[in-house]
Amino acid sequence: MAEIRLPKNSRVTQGRHHPAPAGAARTKTFKVYRYDPDDAANPRWDTYEVDVDACGPMVLDVLIHIKNTMDPTLTFRRSCREGVCGSCAMNIGGRNTLACTHGWEEVPGQAVQISPLPHMPVVKDLVPDLTLFYAQYASIEPWLHTKTPEPQTEWAQSPEDREKLDGLYECILCACCSTSCPSYWWNQEKYLGPAALLHAYRWIIDSRDEATGERLDELEDPFKLYRCHTIMNCAQVCPKGLNPAKAIGEIKKLLVDRVV
Ligand code: SF4
Ligand code: SF4
Ligand code: FES
Repeated sequence: MAEIRLPKNSRVTQGRHHPAPAGAARTKTFKVYRYDPDDAANPRWDTYEVDVDACGPMVLDVLIHIKNTMDPTLTFRRSCREGVCGSCAMNIGGRNTLACTHGWEEVPGQAVQISPLPHMPVVKDLVPDLTLFYAQYASIEPWLHTKTPEPQTEWAQSPEDREKLDGLYECILCACCSTSCPSYWWNQEKYLGPAALLHAYRWIIDSRDEATGERLDELEDPFKLYRCHTIMNCAQVCPKGLNPAKAIGEIKKLLVDRVV
């Protein structure tokens, strides 16, 4: 399983046990990674015996239930609650996914283990620091670059060209893919990772964009692009069913095509 990036010189210890409320008929154990920079008792795994009849079917429902009724100190991100914002991405049962669309009953085993996205610095509990991830997204300049004068109405695009963006524009920047990619774990300072590269390709093939050459120049680098070794973890975990590895392959093809 992918590793959590721990604070220096530390190891995860067994933490606090939160028993089920009296009278709970059906309970399930949730083992949750806890880290608070201001708490001496960390990092640790806390266990919660949750009355699953008192909460909804998704892992996020359980986390909200724990926070509301068992332990208000538990920290996690969430917003839309329907797989649209990407903020509740975490590692659940060894797999990066969205807590709001992943049912706790889908997780095999006695206990459901929940930890932050792997190999990222942790801000608190299940909240990773995504500063570098967002900076890499910004670095591919995710907006239309044009040189011709702006049209009166809009930048027109044929239905066929618009279709080329399908499978790309749907990305919600949850970071599940990049943080499941071994190449990204070991080279994240230099390798852009699958999410940023998927977006780079989205702008490269946009028929309205007039900076294709410059965009390809930026990516032609032994680390930014070529650290992808087609291991495909990214495509396996994407909760939106996207295939960043394919997009990366298409960029590589375009780079080859322009030199032959
Ligand atoms: S295919 Fe490339 S980007 Fe995707 S997980 Fe593998 S190395 Fe990472
Ligand atoms: S490609 Fe999929 S896994 Fe990666 S950031 Fe976008 S939505 Fe998340
Ligand atoms: S809360 Fe928005 S994707 Fe889960």
